Amino acid sequence: MRTIIEPFRIRCVEPLRLSTRQEREQALRDAHYNMFGLRARDVIIDLLTDSGTGAMSTLQWAALMKGDESYAGSDSYYELRDVVRDLTGYEHVFPVHQGRAAERIIASILAGPGKIIPNNTHFDTTRANIEYTGAKALDLPVARAHEPAADLPFKGNMEVEKLCELLDGAAPGSVPLGLLTITNNSCGGQPVSMSNIRAVSELYRSAGVPFFLDAARFAENAYFIKLEEPGYQDRSLAEIVREMFSLADGCMISAKKDGLVNMGGLLALNDDALAEKVRPLLILTEGFPTYGGLAGRDMEALAQGLREILDENYLQYRLASARYLSSALEGMGIPTVRPCAIHAVYVDARSFLPHIRPELLPGQSLCCELYRVGGIRTVEIGTLMFGGRVGQSGLPTAAALDLVRLTLPRRVYTQSHFDWVSEAFEEVVDRRDSLPGYKIVQEPPFLRAFTAQLEPAEELE
Ligand SMILES: Cc1ncc(COP(=O)(O)O)c(C=O)c1O
Repeated sequence: MRTIIEPFRIRCVEPLRLSTRQEREQALRDAHYNMFGLRARDVIIDLLTDSGTGAMSTLQWAALMKGDESYAGSDSYYELRDVVRDLTGYEHVFPVHQGRAAERIIASILAGPGKIIPNNTHFDTTRANIEYTGAKALDLPVARAHEPAADLPFKGNMEVEKLCELLDGAAPGSVPLGLLTITNNSCGGQPVSMSNIRAVSELYRSAGVPFFLDAARFAENAYFIKLEEPGYQDRSLAEIVREMFSLADGCMISAKKDGLVNMGGLLALNDDALAEKVRPLLILTEGFPTYGGLAGRDMEALAQGLREILDENYLQYRLASARYLSSALEGMGIPTVRPCAIHAVYVDARSFLPHIRPELLPGQSLCCELYRVGGIRTVEIGTLMFGGRVGQSGLPTAAALDLVRLTLPRRVYTQSHFDWVSEAFEEVVDRRDSLPGYKIVQEPPFLRAFTAQLEPAEELE
């Protein structure tokens, strides 16, 4: 058979409200042209994020009923602990309310003023949690990671030579933790190869630096290793995942991605002494170590999600969905980040809208237009999110790239939804030269992309 089908059938549906273009124009104005300001009911296809937006399976919904809500020693915790131990091989398993809670706990134990924490690319909450302690979060992606058109496998890798230089030159104790993010979300969702994980692990270990994986998308990363890294085609995904985790000393996981749940996270590790330091901090802000901020039923759903995520038919369908959408866009001459990732399709908005200079936010312009045309919510990953603050000119300084991310929730949308998205792009392609730039008219002191207020540039001129 040629068609890769959704390997599930849908027995519970959530109606979509099909808004009119006029309603969407008003909603956009009310949201100050910020996608985060839109009400979800005004969105037809929501590609804002893959975090916590997936659909649970029948077995996950059934598992909710088994939730043991005991404050201490809940059966649901032990069920989750055993699944995570089996998957990762790590001894100590701590539930947390989401990934950033694990980051905060680890950073507050290991980071601090004067320290440096390297990563292939830090996700923004990881960076913020590290910098909040006074430490420096250092990105060491491979040299060509920021070339959207470079069609190279494992572009999420870390630059091993640079890591080696850093560790060789670092004062003793100044690198208290080493990270590697799989897949590399902030770098176009590109995967990391097993050989890169191994090389990074050897460097961290020979320098005596504890090595943690930021493993929100561990299954998607493992799937790319199986497909593309020589020597892994005949290995099971469970073996590949186990090998990835065996190269590190612990992991932080936002379970809202490959945990297939809407909320939750995990911190897992081997070092007994470090686990002793984690426990009181967990109690301080998350909860007793056998629930860590999650209800018993949530732990049951997560345990079941982790049992389902390594299904190759599911991962094959997920990658096929991303490739289906990305090749439709490429067929219209729309530049996308190559190679196609699995959790999202990234459009290179700066190349697509060359008449809008980066300071006037070409990515945001495309986001607004996709919403106007098709009620599609996407997210700008560019100057609005990462550029400098608005200066005297009234404009921000440009980020390295201006991308629009079309992020695919897990098990939610079908092929016809992606056809709808392609059709919206068809309309935008025809009128792309007339799309306006945008200006930031109000920005908060940090993390501006979430709450900044914008206006089309012409309206201000
Ligand atoms: C790579 C990575 N690390 C950490 C996080 C933070 O996880 P959470 O949103 O659950 O706090 C995310 C969320 O998108 C992520 O993609």
